[in-house]
Amino acid sequence: MATVTFDHATRIYPGTERPAVDALNLEVADGEFLVLVGPSGCGKSTSLRMLAGLEDVNSGRILIGDRDVTDVQPKDRDIAMVFQNYALYPHMSVADNMGFALKIAGKPKKEIRERVEEAAKILDLSEYLDRKPKALSGGQRQRVAMGRAIVRQPQVFLMDEPLSNLDAKLRVQTRTQIASLQRRLGVTTVYVTHDQTEALTMGDRICVMKLGVLQQVGTPRDMYDRPANVFVAGFIGSPAMNLGTFSIKDGHATLGDAAIPLTRTTQEAVTEADKGEITLGFRPEALDVVSEGTDGSFAIDVNLVEELGSDAFVYGELANRKEAEALGSGEDDSQVIVRVDPRTPPMKGDRIHVVIREGQKHVFSAASGERLPE
Ligand SMILES: Nc1ncnc2c1ncn2[C@@H]1O[C@H](COP(=O)(O)OP(=O)(O)O)[C@@H](O)[C@H]1O
Ligand SMILES: [Mg+2]
Repeated sequence: MATVTFDHATRIYPGTERPAVDALNLEVADGEFLVLVGPSGCGKSTSLRMLAGLEDVNSGRILIGDRDVTDVQPKDRDIAMVFQNYALYPHMSVADNMGFALKIAGKPKKEIRERVEEAAKILDLSEYLDRKPKALSGGQRQRVAMGRAIVRQPQVFLMDEPLSNLDAKLRVQTRTQIASLQRRLGVTTVYVTHDQTEALTMGDRICVMKLGVLQQVGTPRDMYDRPANVFVAGFIGSPAMNLGTFSIKDGHATLGDAAIPLTRTTQEAVTEADKGEITLGFRPEALDVVSEGTDGSFAIDVNLVEELGSDAFVYGELANRKEAEALGSGEDDSQVIVRVDPRTPPMKGDRIHVVIREGQKHVFSAASGERLPE
């Protein structure tokens, strides 16, 4: 087992100007499950491919354990990779698919058989070893792809959106299986996904990227409770956090009918570049529905109510909005989202009044988007 270190690792594709991955600094602990997450094109696959040796590193270094592998051939890095398109060889049995890399490496037949059987047991595939891939379900095929990686007993697993080809239900089951399997095997794993729910549920830590630049690394809880900037705030969490930029007047952020008090620390952190504005964030569950006129409340006009059984979410607009005020969410920048009691949800067209729960707002610089102290 081993640690993984990205040290200012940069990839600039030929013919492009902006780095696809820009001076990535990241340390993955021995045995850790680290998830790289971000929207499509943010540089997740490129980062993983640099670690695998499939993509040149233009500047910076990559280490596995203490070993600088920046210029080491992929086959000599002691890693195993699972891709989204984990094409299995259709003419080979499950056992042969799983053992193929070992066969190429010239391992003795007996050892291959033993390692394949052991992996099959872990993956619940023992009874399918003689089948061909076409006689397996999607989930089973996915497990064979995992098995191919496991039998190699690598120092590091690399996984690039390995669940994307599965339907929604199977994706949820398989993500639990992969996460618990990784913990059992204790092999350092770097896992790529664009799906923030997958990241939150699977990772020991999550690394959020945007346009090739690392935004924040932390535990799922850190990312949810203390997003470092507006981008992470809007990206992590479902339904997404509400975010809006408002004028500061007399130490308060004005929000529709309401004036939300800002602490002295926050006010002092606002700079001239912010031009008298501040960005506030609050999650759908950080709002309480209250009666009209309650101190600090603001009004929301209900456009849509989404009932999910255990929860109900109101999608609406800030009422009595002043000019230049805009409030939306990481999902849709014109709609506020409020979690309400599913037994007594409001109706489309209603006006509700809400307050932000004590201690549950996030404040960011209007100019830089960086989190401000409270
Ligand atoms: N072979 C390539 N040549 C040029 N640009 C590429 C190549 N592969 C990826 N890119 C660009 O690099 C950026 C990051 O891509 P990628 O790492 O695949 O993102 P992600 O996996 O997060 O969706 C994107 O802008 C993408 O268009
Ligand atoms: Mg990708």
